[in-house]
Amino acid sequence: MFRRMSEDTSAIQVCIAGTGSYLPERILTNAELAATVDTSDEWILSRTGIRERRIAAAGEFTSHMATHAARKALEQAGLAAEDVELIIVATITPDTPTPATACYVQQSLGASRAVAFDISAACSGFLYAMKISKRLITSGAFTNALIIGAEKLSAVTNWEDRSTCVLFGDGAGAAVLRIAAPEEGSILATEMGTDGNLTHLLNIPGGGTACPITSENVGQHLGTLTMMGKEVFKHAVNRMKEAAEKVIERSGLQPEDIACVIPHQANLRIIDAIADRLAVPNERVFVNLDKYGNTSAAAVAIAFDEANRSGAFKRGDHIVLVVFGAGLTWAAAAIRW
Ligand code: ACO
Repeated sequence: MFRRMSEDTSAIQVCIAGTGSYLPERILTNAELAATVDTSDEWILSRTGIRERRIAAAGEFTSHMATHAARKALEQAGLAAEDVELIIVATITPDTPTPATACYVQQSLGASRAVAFDISAACSGFLYAMKISKRLITSGAFTNALIIGAEKLSAVTNWEDRSTCVLFGDGAGAAVLRIAAPEEGSILATEMGTDGNLTHLLNIPGGGTACPITSENVGQHLGTLTMMGKEVFKHAVNRMKEAAEKVIERSGLQPEDIACVIPHQANLRIIDAIADRLAVPNERVFVNLDKYGNTSAAAVAIAFDEANRSGAFKRGDHIVLVVFGAGLTWAAAAIRW
């Protein structure tokens, strides 16, 4: 029914050398949304945990946000842009259908040696990029990689649909991966999976070759996100729990060994359900969706950076990242920091 890739055995260990994130300045509150669609702060907060989200400026593209986040990650890693060997941008809102957003990021960073391409795996894209780049480093093809989750979801949101427009926001998060020295932490285990039988639960129906936007259908919001929320919710909880359990087990850990779980930031009720099923106390689960909503591929990357910079984990701690998104797709990673 679905395909999945599993583990990773190599003498080369790969660590996270730096993280970064960027959020646009403009804050859109629940109260502002309630003035334009039939909703309320109370409904949004109680059903999702979201209080506000960020909205990129008109001339601010996905690659701009990605570049800001990348610079911070490179700075923390102490890696010069010209020494980056691989750039992967995970996004469902590229600047242009082609070339890849990663190419614009390569240009704006001045990372002229880097191979650059995008992956499209919705909210799971950042951890797909982590697994792929880890594999490319352990195979000897590259010594480092810059992975970025970046989205301008405000550009693909139907602002008249209250069931989706209250959920999404814009932003970017990044991480630098490189070969780890023996005394450093490393990515212990990664997991990713796909179930293409469930593409209908969450998609942008128009704008691709299946349904181009034409002068006849332009007013029908076909280029915006549609979602069967309840169904997605159920699969999200099950898949994220399974993926997190797999990487915990493959790392030889127990749930009580995990200092910090960083889940996809879609809905606080989903996050609470996962924490409960994994038997990880809520205080060890990082949440920032109240400030940013669901930023798809950027969400776990931004949360990872905020958790890192706020001291939610320290050297030697074990952390788990776990995500879920359109496809359906899911992924997880266990890391010794
Ligand atoms: N304000 C007020 N009422 C609303 C709103 C709103 N913004 N949206 C929906 N409602 C109403 C519905 O019309 C419905 O009314 P009815 O009972 O009269 O028909 C009622 O609220 C309940 O709606 P549900 O959709 O059943 O609400 P639910 O509790 O399931 O919450 C939500 C909806 C928040 C979308 C939830 O299902 C969810 O979070 N799903 C998962 C989303 C997710 O994880 N996505 C991840 C991937 S995103 C990506 O890949 C880009």
